Amino acid sequence: MARLVLPYISFIVFLLLMCMATQPGTGTTHSDEVKALGEIAKQLGKKDWNTNVDPCINESSWLTPKLDSRPLYNNSLICNCSYPNSVCHVVKLILKGQDLGGVLPRSLVKLPYLTTLSANNLSGELPVTLTKLTKLKELRISSNNFTGRMPDFFQSWKQLEKLEIQASGFEGPIPSSISILINLTELRISDLVGGGSKFPNLGSSTRMIRLFLTSNLFTGPIPEGIKGIDNTQAFCPIMSRQSVNFNKVHINCGGKASTVGNIKYEADDDPAGGASFFQRENWGFSSSGRFWDIDTTGNDYVANNVSILKMNEAELYISARLSPLSITYYARCLANGPYKLKLHFAEIVVRDNRSFGSLGRRIFDIYVQEKLVLKDFDIENAAPGVDKAVVREYKANVTNKVLMIRFFWAGKGTTATPKRGTYGPLISAISVEAGRYSLSPTMAGSWNNV
Ligand SMILES: *[C@@H]1O[C@H](CO)[C@@H](O)[C@H](O)[C@H]1NC(C)=O
Ligand SMILES: *[C@@H]1O[C@H](CO)[C@@H](O)[C@H](O)[C@H]1NC(C)=O
Ligand SMILES: *[C@@H]1O[C@H](CO)[C@@H](O)[C@H](O)[C@H]1NC(C)=O
Ligand SMILES: *[C@@H]1O[C@H](CO)[C@@H](O)[C@H](O)[C@H]1NC(C)=O
Ligand SMILES: *[C@@H]1O[C@H](CO)[C@@H](O)[C@H](O)[C@H]1NC(C)=O
Ligand SMILES: *[C@@H]1O[C@H](CO)[C@@H](O)[C@H](O)[C@H]1NC(C)=O
Ligand SMILES: *[C@@H]1O[C@H](CO)[C@@H](O)[C@H](O)[C@H]1NC(C)=O
Ligand SMILES: *[C@@H]1O[C@H](CO)[C@@H](O)[C@H](O)[C@H]1NC(C)=O
Ligand SMILES: *[C@@H]1O[C@H](CO)[C@@H](O)[C@H](O)[C@H]1NC(C)=O
Repeated sequence: MARLVLPYISFIVFLLLMCMATQPGTGTTHSDEVKALGEIAKQLGKKDWNTNVDPCINESSWLTPKLDSRPLYNNSLICNCSYPNSVCHVVKLILKGQDLGGVLPRSLVKLPYLTTLSANNLSGELPVTLTKLTKLKELRISSNNFTGRMPDFFQSWKQLEKLEIQASGFEGPIPSSISILINLTELRISDLVGGGSKFPNLGSSTRMIRLFLTSNLFTGPIPEGIKGIDNTQAFCPIMSRQSVNFNKVHINCGGKASTVGNIKYEADDDPAGGASFFQRENWGFSSSGRFWDIDTTGNDYVANNVSILKMNEAELYISARLSPLSITYYARCLANGPYKLKLHFAEIVVRDNRSFGSLGRRIFDIYVQEKLVLKDFDIENAAPGVDKAVVREYKANVTNKVLMIRFFWAGKGTTATPKRGTYGPLISAISVEAGRYSLSPTMAGSWNNV
């Protein structure tokens, strides 16, 4: 009897052992990669990795400690242990907000399974050997002090889905080969030394949902109306193009995501310094012009209230998007048909308290689908008063899936009060909804027969 059962038991034990060995997490890191990590630590002066333990067993030195107050700090190494023979490979490496120095280590190429790399506070040239990281899907190298041209490695990094190169130290221009990246969903580039880029041809990046490019990258202005509607169509994500047609968009311009009543307004709080091109899944904006005479920072393009706002739905008005010259919001991937557009305004920059600030005047024009719908709009006059809400409603037809709303400074008003740079258009929130609506008599704009 025992003789018959024993082989079965050993077989079951053998099976169990096999199963355990192939479970994720129970493997061991490929020895070349362990060695490479040691070299990387040495090259970066990174002292917290405990190279005596396997990097892929989630030992704490290889991970961000739960309690770390350093802002932006992220020290994460993520492995995939589902490879044959229970070998683990390093797939993600995040080295952010750490007091590391030096160049991006060449030994990174010995982590060939790397799909995500994120690092900051480094300098020097980007080693050409990084082109060997052909599996890269996500590369975030912002806030570095690199030297040399922005890398033209995209032939090797064809799989990139997310690319972030902000304040990297690189020199422009953006290599035209960036147009190979057909799977890009997120692209953020700013502050290339010397600028000099042409607006990239991203017509093949049909999955793009977030695009953030600042104007100082480009020679010549970004054409009004976002490089034409063709681009906005091209960037409509494939998913949306095939199946989803949006029928509403609510944006809290310059502000955080907020729910007002039962309407969810999306956040729009990315700083958009200078003329820029910014795009989300089904809406975006382009802003053009630089504020005169002032050293601009992202904050100059977003205004926040300076006194308590008492109107209803104050969340929509406590921040607003500003632009010195022109800002065009567009909703895209919309189902064609009639829409109601509601524009929310409150003058939160110019003051009315007999201070110098009360001398400021902001006057701008509004265009919907390229038609002038409101000329010489002065929020303070219309309210009347500062810190008061003004809503204007319009009807619009969408015929090519895009609805464009442009706020345009036509050269009127003051340009230097209360501080230099206070003048161009200001918009607090935008709401776009499909349907055959009637307009509220008190809110309907002067252009209501279209
Ligand atoms: C490490 O953590 C990841 C994510 O939490 C998990 O998937 C993996 O199985 C863990 N590995 C080990 C060895 O515990
Ligand atoms: C670090 O980065 C990884 C990958 O982006 C992310 O999943 C993780 O939440 C981040 N950790 C912290 C503490 O921010
Ligand atoms: C881990 O690698 C295996 C084998 O290549 C792959 O099938 C799996 O999708 C990967 N897992 C993750 C979470 O990427
Ligand atoms: C960047 O690295 C330098 C040393 O090279 C260090 O003094 C500084 O604190 C680091 N900054 C950040 C934000 O990590
Ligand atoms: C970048 O490097 C230059 C030259 O080495 C140095 O002068 C500058 O302070 C560095 N900037 C930062 C932000 O580390
Ligand atoms: C783009 O993504 C698709 C689907 O995820 C994949 O099959 C294709 O190989 C990717 N193309 C490149 C160039 O990485
Ligand atoms: C802005 O308005 C909100 C809502 O009224 C208020 O809570 C907040 O204190 C105001 N901010 C300032 C700086 O007055
Ligand atoms: C007017 O309002 C501004 C901003 O709230 C404030 O800084 C200034 O002191 C006020 N001036 C007067 C005369 O009340
Ligand atoms: C929208 O289309 C309808 C029907 O074609 C038309 O009567 C109306 O004038 C159009 N409105 C605008 C804003 O173009």
